Amino acid sequence: MRVCVIGTGYVGLVTGACLAHIGHDVICVDNNEEKVKLMKSGQSPIFEPGLSEIMQSAIQSGKIEFTTDIAAGVAHGEILFIAVGTPPLPTGESDTRYVEAVARGIGVNLNGGYKVIVNKSTVPIGSGDWVRMIVLDGIAERQKTLVPAGGVLSDEKLPEIAAQFDVVSNPEFLREGSAVYDTFNPDRIVLGGNSQRAIALMQELYAPIVERQYANDKSLPAVPILTTDLSSAEMIKYAANAFLATKISFINEVANICDRVGADVTQVAKGIGLDSRIGNKFLQAGIGWGGSCFPKDVAALIHTADDYGYEAQIMKAAVSVNERQRLIALEKLQQVLKILKGKTVGLLGLTFKPDTDDLRDAPALNLIEQLNRLGAKVKAYDPIVSQTGLRHGLSGVLVETDAERLADGCDALVLVTEWQQFSTLDYVKMAQLMSHPVIIDGRNFLDPETMVRAGFQYVGVGR
Ligand code: NAI
Repeated sequence: MRVCVIGTGYVGLVTGACLAHIGHDVICVDNNEEKVKLMKSGQSPIFEPGLSEIMQSAIQSGKIEFTTDIAAGVAHGEILFIAVGTPPLPTGESDTRYVEAVARGIGVNLNGGYKVIVNKSTVPIGSGDWVRMIVLDGIAERQKTLVPAGGVLSDEKLPEIAAQFDVVSNPEFLREGSAVYDTFNPDRIVLGGNSQRAIALMQELYAPIVERQYANDKSLPAVPILTTDLSSAEMIKYAANAFLATKISFINEVANICDRVGADVTQVAKGIGLDSRIGNKFLQAGIGWGGSCFPKDVAALIHTADDYGYEAQIMKAAVSVNERQRLIALEKLQQVLKILKGKTVGLLGLTFKPDTDDLRDAPALNLIEQLNRLGAKVKAYDPIVSQTGLRHGLSGVLVETDAERLADGCDALVLVTEWQQFSTLDYVKMAQLMSHPVIIDGRNFLDPETMVRAGFQYVGVGR
C-alpha cells in the first residue's frame, strides 16, 4: 500500500521504516531539512535499537523515501499518518499546533482518490473531528486560490473532495528503547473511527503484523485489533499512560514506606506482582517517571477532565507522588553526605530510561538543577549522551567520557538510568577513585552485597 508519514520523530520514523520493511511503499515527510538530509543518507536522527538497519534496507529496496515536500507525500499516500509532536503547554494541555499545521497541509494538497488520514500523534479527545474540520478548511483554502481574482468562489467541488477522506485514530503504544520490537510485536492495535472503508484499509495495512509475520514469536495468536469510535481510541492512549504512571507512583509510595519500616520493596514487588490481577510489570521502584510521554499525557488528561468540570484526583496524586520521588536521590544524598555545597556528585545515566537518547523531561534534569542550587558540582556519564555529544536541554553538568573518569574525585554516585552496561562496570576501581565511595542506586539495579564488597556504601530506594 502507499503510505505517507508526516513527522519523523520517535514515532513517525519507526512507523515509516517498519511499514516499509513489511513491504509498503512509504514516503516520510518532515519539515526539518537537516533531519531529512540525514535520513536520506540512511542515518537515523534518533538512537533506537535496530532502526538504522531497517531504514537502510528499506532505502536500498526503494521502499522508503524522505522529503520535506508535503505535497509529494500527500499525492503519494492512500494512508496519511500524522505523527508530529504534541508537547505540553505550561497549562498542561497539549499543544496541537503541529497537528493543525499538518492537517491544513494535507487539506491544501489533497488530490483525487480516497485517503485515510490517521492520527498517530497523541491528541486531545475530540481531535479526530477537529482534524477533519481543519482538513476541510485546507481544501477550502486551496479552492479560493483556484478562483480567478474578482471571480466568484464556487464550492461545488468541496463536498466531492470532502467525501474522499476519512479520519482514523490509531494511537501509538511503542516504548522508546524498544520501538522497532514493539512495532512488530504489539500487544494490540487500536483503530478508532466511524468509516468501515477506512478501518478495512487500516486492517489491510497492518495485516502482516497482525498475523505475526514479523514477530519474534510467530506461534503467538494474532494481534488483537480493537475498533472503537474516535473519542474512545483517543481516550485509550491517555488512560493507558495514566494507568502506567499511576502504577509506578504506587510502587514508589510503597518503597518510601518500606524505607521507613525496614522492608525490601524489591521483594514486595515480586510478592504482589505474582498476583495475576496485579502483574509484575511497572513495579520497579526508583526515582520516578519521566520522558516525553507520561508527564505530558497525564497532565493533558487532568486538564481535559478539568475542562469538563471533573477533578482527576488519582492522576493528580500520581503526579504529586512523582514530583517528590524525582528528588528522592537528593534526599538520600543529604542523609549520607549532609552538606552538599562543594561536594561532587556523579550521575550514572542521564536519559529517562535505557536504550534511548531522549532527554525530554528526564528525572536527571531535576536532580542536576537541585544539586546545582545546593552548590554541588555535578558530573555525569551516559553511554549514549557521552558518545553522541547530545547536549540538548543539559546545563550545569560536566559530561564525562567513561564511568571511571566520572568516579574520579566524586563524593557520591547516583545511578539514574539502568543501562545494562552499568551492571558490569569495574566498581572496585571506581570506589578507589572516589573521595567517598557512596552510591545511591536510584533504580534498585545493582546488587547491594556486590557493591558493599566493592567498597561502596550502598543506598537503594525502599530496600
Ligand atoms: P518528535 O518530537 O520526536 O518528532 C516529531 C517530528 O515531527 C519532528 O521530526 C519534527 O521535525 C516533525 N514536525 C513537526 N512539525 C512538522 C510539520 N509541520 N511537518 C512535518 N514534520 C513536522 O515526536 P515523537 O516523540 O515521535 O512523538 C510524536 C507523537 O507521538 C506525539 O504526539 C507523542 O505524544 C506520541 N507518542 C510518542 C511516543 C514516544 O515514545 N516518543 C510513544 C507514543 C506516542
